[in-house]
Amino acid sequence: MTLARLPMPLRVVYGLFGAATLALGAFVVVFLTRWIASLEPVEAFLAAYPGTAPMPEGMGVGIPAWLSWTHFLNGFFLLLIIRSGIRIRGEKTPSGLWTSRRVKKRRMSLTMWFHIMIDLLWIANGLLYVVLLFATGAWVRVIPTSWDVFPHALSALIQYTSLDWPTHSGWTGYNGLQQLFYFAIVFVASPLAIVTGLRLSAFWPRDAERLNRAIPFDLAKALHFPVMLFFVGFVIVHVGLVLATDALRNLNTMYGGQDAVNWTGFWIFVLSLLAMAAGWIAARDRLIAPIAQRFGDVRMRPTR
Ligand code: HEM
Repeated sequence: MTLARLPMPLRVVYGLFGAATLALGAFVVVFLTRWIASLEPVEAFLAAYPGTAPMPEGMGVGIPAWLSWTHFLNGFFLLLIIRSGIRIRGEKTPSGLWTSRRVKKRRMSLTMWFHIMIDLLWIANGLLYVVLLFATGAWVRVIPTSWDVFPHALSALIQYTSLDWPTHSGWTGYNGLQQLFYFAIVFVASPLAIVTGLRLSAFWPRDAERLNRAIPFDLAKALHFPVMLFFVGFVIVHVGLVLATDALRNLNTMYGGQDAVNWTGFWIFVLSLLAMAAGWIAARDRLIAPIAQRFGDVRMRPTR
């Protein structure tokens, strides 16, 4: 019998039991890691590798305005991409259809058109970020420059798991674990999301045999959604840690352009959340359809 078919009181009991087991599991992991961290060789390891990712002297210090802006726009577009992506998955009958005026065969649901348009904005913003990253030398923040990043990342993981969180200043650089995850999200997960998305879209030539062999449709379909889940998991942990470890200072780093503990970054962050909420509310057919109409023909399904 599935959980959904059980009577309500039994479901509550199972839910509570599951939550208690998870909490107990978490406690065991924390205390086990604390015990491991107190062993002499591990203590010596943590002293030798305190966690901070090695960076070339004098490079990549500070968060310039272009980094704050591209970081905000990335989150803004990503929210709309995930919103429309989930809608595409649940949409049995599309609310509207968009057809290209140039290539009549290029036809898709209105939601898919919106998803792709925001993808293009997200890609343009990401390209700008990567170009500026390399042009200004800020790449050393997110691309490891030494193999020592791995022991530092392990050290940071031990410190996070034992709840003895690594003190860090994002202004002067990240810890090894952050650096590896930032690298993964920018240079692995993002390209993967783009390539698999392109393969699934109407913009990938259906009869390009060599390309199709390189990335089979089924593989792209199997990967696209898990990549989205990776993004969601990353954001939950990323934002959770930003807020749980010296929140005001972290928010000032990314939103306030300063390495200080005051409320400036926090209020800019609140404004950015309001902008994201407004984007979420505005992303409706009533607003999307007239914009899509400028780029092709839109036919809405009559509402009953
Ligand atoms: C809206 C919620 C978000 C907040 C509050 C936030 C906050 C921050 C902060 C404070 C930093 C600096 C790191 C530190 O000091 O610990 C940072 C860096 C970073 N964040 Fe976020 N972030 C958010 C969303 C995202 C999203 C959606 C992504 C990508 C999927 C992302 C990817 C990154 C990357 C790659 C860096 C490193 C940037 C660099 O130095 O080049 N963040 N974030």
